[in-house]
Amino acid sequence: MKRLLLAIAVIFAVACSKTTSNQTNEVAIIPQPLSLSQHNNTFTITPNSVLVCNTNELTPIVGYVQEYLAVKGAVESAPSENFISLALDKSLAEEEYHLAVSNKSVQIVAGGYGGAFNGVQTLFQLLPSEVYTKQMRLPAVVQGCDVKDKPKFAYRGFMLDVARTFMEKENVLRYIDYIAYHKINKFHWHLTDNQGWRIEIKSHPRLAKEGGFRGGDSSIRASYGKWNEKYGGFYTQEEIKEVVAYAAVRNIEVIPEIDLPGHSEALARIYPEVLCRYTNDELDVNGNYDNRNVVCATKESNYKLLEEILAEVCALFPSKHFHIGGDEVNMSQWKKCPDCSAWLKKHGYTDGYKLEDMFISRIQAILAKYGKEPSVWNEAAFGGGLSKEALVHGWKSPKVCKQVMAAGYRTIFMPQQFFYFDMRQSKHEPGAVWGGCFDIRKTYSFDFVKEGFTPEEIATVEGFEAPYWSEAFLSQGGDKSIDFIEYQTFPRICALAELGWGKNGGGEWAEFQHRLASRHYDRMSDMGLNFRVTPPEVHYEEGQLSIEKIDSSEVYYREDGCKKVHRYKGVISTTQPGKYLFWSEYRGHKSPEVAHPSQYHTIKPKMTLTSSLPENPKRGFATVAERDARTLRTCHKGDWILFEFEEPVECRKAEFFTGGYAVASRTIQVGYLEISEDGKNFERVADLEYGVATLVNPKPFKAARIVSETTAVGSSINIGYPKIYPKW
Ligand code: ACM
Ligand code: ZN
Repeated sequence: MKRLLLAIAVIFAVACSKTTSNQTNEVAIIPQPLSLSQHNNTFTITPNSVLVCNTNELTPIVGYVQEYLAVKGAVESAPSENFISLALDKSLAEEEYHLAVSNKSVQIVAGGYGGAFNGVQTLFQLLPSEVYTKQMRLPAVVQGCDVKDKPKFAYRGFMLDVARTFMEKENVLRYIDYIAYHKINKFHWHLTDNQGWRIEIKSHPRLAKEGGFRGGDSSIRASYGKWNEKYGGFYTQEEIKEVVAYAAVRNIEVIPEIDLPGHSEALARIYPEVLCRYTNDELDVNGNYDNRNVVCATKESNYKLLEEILAEVCALFPSKHFHIGGDEVNMSQWKKCPDCSAWLKKHGYTDGYKLEDMFISRIQAILAKYGKEPSVWNEAAFGGGLSKEALVHGWKSPKVCKQVMAAGYRTIFMPQQFFYFDMRQSKHEPGAVWGGCFDIRKTYSFDFVKEGFTPEEIATVEGFEAPYWSEAFLSQGGDKSIDFIEYQTFPRICALAELGWGKNGGGEWAEFQHRLASRHYDRMSDMGLNFRVTPPEVHYEEGQLSIEKIDSSEVYYREDGCKKVHRYKGVISTTQPGKYLFWSEYRGHKSPEVAHPSQYHTIKPKMTLTSSLPENPKRGFATVAERDARTLRTCHKGDWILFEFEEPVECRKAEFFTGGYAVASRTIQVGYLEISEDGKNFERVADLEYGVATLVNPKPFKAARIVSETTAVGSSINIGYPKIYPKW
């Protein structure tokens, strides 16, 4: 009778747990385990279920599990039934585990801490997605299966750039949770760059206290924001230790990066003496801002300073890896330096990379004193001085990754064309543009064989990583910006997790997409993630507009310019296919809007551009219709940009923009747009938001003028031809 009541309670709980979700009892794990067999024996977790663990090594995991599951324990020996056990079997590999579900128990046996943690994550994915809310109601049913699993690649990483945009410690911890749910085991923390120094260095406190902030009276100029406002932040050493410990519980190794010898403007603003010994003749026209960013490689005092800094950083991170950058060094700064150029000459070199190699070798020797091995970006892998123990992050392209392997290094795969999650996911979505435009399907499609790698080469791959570079981050919208990183990262990182695990699902997109949409959308919802739902596809033929659904989300649409939402029920007959905007929605998560290409058609009426800002002759105003125009300085308060049209413009929408998402530093940050019907009298109609002013259904206008209300301290403003959308 008790069992019958329990069974009824379970059925009731499962039936009530979701109304809109896709949950079935089909097992769908991401990343797909190496071997999984589903059976019909389910285990029911009740408040009386007991957690069993007989080794102190796994104690942190016991605490972790109990944050999510309100079960008893932990006890050392298993009762006869109704228990979840964690145990070690050292004959398995460290990250390997076996998980067995019976009607009496769930037993996880692992090679080490990492394996036990991986087993727990698989257990979570066998439960209702509510488990991620940490408030799952019991009883809860574990779907029956036996799993034997281990990752193919040792390194499955995510990189967060907190230098371009500072992120509070709490947000970093949140990210660590999100990636841990996906069995990502490395967190690469990009702590310094031109735009900020984010880690407290006790022997050199100015680095973080001043270098962690920009704008206002900071010695680092604003890149985004309102120019005169000071903003930023840094992590104290205590906070760093807290993040490292939090990550360790979650089987995540934190690898710090201090980006050297380039990308070092923040360091150089605090200690200008690290720069090369010559007078900078590239001061910008607004003043004397020195934006050199390369540490002089031949100044002995630099190595002393860097050792003092690096020694402190080494002590905070238990990882044996330490990322020292090495990317995008502006060699012209070394070539202008009498000392650096003399060094090259003395050694018979003309190639600045030889000097970079010497620099990297020196830093490598410093790290060795503190028990660390360097990790570098791919540019630093070809000089010959880098230790063969180093990890090389291949970011440029698969081809460059191949060259890194040929040079004898273990490689972290992260070609920008597949893995740079700051890139936009489709043509009409926000995001950076310089490295490509791709969604999860492209990330998932990465294939060593298709990219021309041999089995011998694949055997030297250490793993995969995706970075989130945060230049195009604040520009997406104030407090909402952290949601934007989630949107850019999830679900693309689910594809990375699958690749890192070995694509045991076979690599078919449709199969992966099914696992994602049938179960993982629910999980990401309950994790609290602002993930991107894959949009539907739009088809148009012979007056018939139709939608192809990618998943089980509901599809909705609206007509351009209207807010009224319709549910898509079937083919729409129309001669104006671009007028309809469609999207998918799943539990409140909305895909981007998609439309027939004619939605995005713009017109370029004849127009002249003038400005109080001086014109850059290399990017003249007269050719703005072909490419963005550029000014010779950034704006002062009261500066204006005037667009005068030959004929009054009639349109349904117009966007006037300076800069753009990816070049936030070239925008007018605070200002407004005025339009004029007669070309003489102007009326203020819109404010600039992140450099863009948008008009919807404006009256016909002969002229439009952007007026700056702020004074900036950069080098130039970009001006685009306005995007003018014709009336339907
Ligand atoms: C990089 O994207 N500069 C590593
Ligand atoms: Zn120099």
